[in-house]
Amino acid sequence: MKTKKVLLAMFTAGAMLALAACASSPAGTDGGSGEGAGNGGLIGVAMPTKSSERWIQDGNAVKEQLEAQGFKVDLQYAEDDIPTQVSQIENMITKGAEALIIASIDGTTLSSVLEQAAENEIPVIAYDRLIRDTDNIDYYVTFNNYIVGQQQAWSVLNGLGLVELDGTAIADAPAGPFNVELFAGSPDDNNATFFWQGAIDELQPFIDAGTVVVKSGQTNFEQAAILRWDGEVAQKRMENLLTSTYSDGSKVNGVLSPYDGLSRGIISALTDAGYSVGAEWPIISGQDAELDSVKAINSGEQFATIFKDTRELAKVAVEMASALLNGTDVQVNDTETYDNGNFVVPSFLLSSQVVVKDNITSVLVDSGYWTAEEIKG
Ligand code: BGC
Repeated sequence: MKTKKVLLAMFTAGAMLALAACASSPAGTDGGSGEGAGNGGLIGVAMPTKSSERWIQDGNAVKEQLEAQGFKVDLQYAEDDIPTQVSQIENMITKGAEALIIASIDGTTLSSVLEQAAENEIPVIAYDRLIRDTDNIDYYVTFNNYIVGQQQAWSVLNGLGLVELDGTAIADAPAGPFNVELFAGSPDDNNATFFWQGAIDELQPFIDAGTVVVKSGQTNFEQAAILRWDGEVAQKRMENLLTSTYSDGSKVNGVLSPYDGLSRGIISALTDAGYSVGAEWPIISGQDAELDSVKAINSGEQFATIFKDTRELAKVAVEMASALLNGTDVQVNDTETYDNGNFVVPSFLLSSQVVVKDNITSVLVDSGYWTAEEIKG
């Protein structure tokens, strides 16, 4: 905790107001009355891209909740371009941001801009993606990314009849063999290796038993990884796999996909290759409960997604920023898992849920994440 930063922030934001807010309403507990801990201070929020719906949901949720706390917000999207994100963060620092909430594009490229943040005593919260190779971040808020990976594997294995959705073994499960191809996320995103490891640890026993076969032989993270989580690149890779490995008339039975945007590319490749929804359509996983993918689950093209409630993630990030600026305790629940190369970053991890056709309504509609209208299309 950088006490100097906290004091500076309080006094630059107007000492009287800040102190009054501290006394009357502890950070994050004023119910968003607009007279909360914010005191009109500016918070910079850097998001990676608008090309994925989930980050739009994140950005909106963080902005709304910060504003409800009385902060001003500079919300920027960098369209997956690293120099753009760096200069957006530089601008936030120049404009006098009192704290930064950053979902990085490449978690290793922000060291020098975060030096500037540190020189200006600005606290930094890494949002969903760990920022690596720097001392200059304070906290990390994310989901339990290893479990997300396990859930993605369980989705595929469940669709094939091999385990329950929570990974529990099924008695008299089929012996297979099932052909499953593996995709991973962007190698510059720390989350991607966590998702991959969680998934592989669940798939490996089935691969060892011969129940699951990665027919292409592409079982390394490097072979499976899709830079910048780009759906078109995933589509191309799936096309190549179909040509190189399945031209002999054999079929893909499952695809481990770590993100809905990749799943949509994979679905296009399969459709173009003549697969159609029905008996021979493979089981495909995903992540983020993006609207088009929820519809694809409804129509049977995608088997499952992983729901990570961005409203909850935003809430924790806002509570962290608020507590940092008010010098109150920041809540964390993990101080072991996320070593960023320089130190183990104190983290708050949220939990995720597998969504399949049967629980779309109970998980996504009943929680107000999507309306029944929206998922119908
Ligand atoms: C996030 C995922 C998302 C992916 C692609 C990851 O860092 O944790 O939720 O699917 O980025 O945007």
